[in-house]
Amino acid sequence: MEKLTQQHFLRQISIGTTLLYVITENERRCERLLTQAAARIKGMGSPMIWTCTEGLSRDGEFIPDTVDLIKCLDFALSQTGPLLLVLKDIQWFWRDNPILVRKIKDLAFTSKNKGKVTVILGEEEWTPQCLRDEIIIVKQGLPEVEEIRAFLGQARENDPTLAKACETDPTLLERLVVAARGLDLTDLERAIRTLRLADMTGADAVRALLENKRRILQQSGIMELVIDTDGSDQLGGMENLKQWLKRRETAFGLEGISSGVGLPKGVLIMGVAGCGKSLFVKAIAAEWRLPLIRLDMSTVYSGVFGSPEASLNQAFKTAEAVAPCVLWIDEIESGITTHGFKSEGGASSRILGSFLTWMQEKKEPVFVAATANAIEMLPAEVLRKGRFDEIFYVGLPETAAREEIFRIHLAKQNADLATIDCKLLAGSTRGFSGAEIEQVVNAATFEALADQHPMTQQDLMTMVSRTVPLSITMAEQIKKIEAWAFKRAVPASGAK
Ligand SMILES: Nc1ncnc2c1ncn2[C@@H]1O[C@H](COP(=O)(O)OP(=O)(O)O)[C@@H](O)[C@H]1O
Ligand SMILES: [Mg+2]
Repeated sequence: MEKLTQQHFLRQISIGTTLLYVITENERRCERLLTQAAARIKGMGSPMIWTCTEGLSRDGEFIPDTVDLIKCLDFALSQTGPLLLVLKDIQWFWRDNPILVRKIKDLAFTSKNKGKVTVILGEEEWTPQCLRDEIIIVKQGLPEVEEIRAFLGQARENDPTLAKACETDPTLLERLVVAARGLDLTDLERAIRTLRLADMTGADAVRALLENKRRILQQSGIMELVIDTDGSDQLGGMENLKQWLKRRETAFGLEGISSGVGLPKGVLIMGVAGCGKSLFVKAIAAEWRLPLIRLDMSTVYSGVFGSPEASLNQAFKTAEAVAPCVLWIDEIESGITTHGFKSEGGASSRILGSFLTWMQEKKEPVFVAATANAIEMLPAEVLRKGRFDEIFYVGLPETAAREEIFRIHLAKQNADLATIDCKLLAGSTRGFSGAEIEQVVNAATFEALADQHPMTQQDLMTMVSRTVPLSITMAEQIKKIEAWAFKRAVPASGAK
């Protein structure tokens, strides 16, 4: 189904379409668009609008005796063009109403070559079967970036509070644009209105929009908007990954990236569990200031929220509507491992196939960040060069990285870093993952708190000695992943 834009509308008229049905959840936005389009057609003037309570009106002036729909259509039939007739509320009348449907059909037919166009607005997808040949159905869809920007520009001129907020925060307008993507303009209007409240700031307005979006995504059951994301300063080690992030930012500029202009296709991050793959994805979104949408693959495969293919398509559509954004496909292999690749009659590979096709063909700037623990489960075509910009391998942290990770997590617990020897801790935790280091710090904090003394080096060392890192019990598996990655992936840490 085509999307309603001014261009699309004008093209339809130029090829002689006289009857359109627009599926919309925002009549006012639709009206605005049609009014703007009509203004570009010679002699058409403002649209004439019908509602079931007020009848026909044009520019606020009512045409008497047109509340009755049939009379309204008779009036329209009697007019010589050009004329844009916009009918609201029709969905309540045109089921099982042969006279009405006949009139609409006649109007569509006699409008030809007269420059008369009828547009029916409704929320439902349903239209009478017998109008099928006459009617063109379009969907309003969500506003494009340009529409949002234009709307905000207008709003700034009319609304002194918004103008003032933009003055105090020069990045506000662009942040509102990004936050409003994937939402209707009414949400944006509401967010702007909150600025009039005494204690609200621009940042609150942005947050309100993100909250809206989070609710909408949550309803899908398979997606979630991750709001509070840490930047790369919360990520120990991984110099290569950090450099990769920075280099793109230098090349395209943060403005370019966060508006989607220089946004790369995506990365696949594989490697040992608990070493910061998820953390890195969050850092990408935070550094590039993009919304982060997490797609839960195991729920997609489980089919709880509809067939996996349908839910995946839904997720892609949503991501494109929200774009520019980061779509995080967490543990991309999880569905495959739990269900088995072949036992399902190839469903998993079909799903991955549609994922790859979409990645190849997507038009909107959606950056895909996929993470995987067990990469050998993934079929070769996922890994083929060109699908992802880069495949990264995240291994166990080296000594220097472990020191950094200790520092990060100790700082998070407000420990006194001057009294703690992070170098020594790093040296004693060979084979520990980032998650295990975090665990050590948290457990030591907890113990110290229970004993009511400030945390000491000794508390930490005790926890270290009590931990058997997974890398020991899973040595074989990690070796396998490393061997695989050695040939195919860029290590996340260390010089390239
Ligand atoms: N390199 C790291 N720097 C800082 N913290 C880390 C690092 N790696 C892991 N962690 C800690 O371990 C937790 C789990 O990491 P996560 O990113 O979920 O691992 P993965 O997705 O690779 O299994 C994180 O929330 C973080 O607190
Ligand atoms: Mg993870």
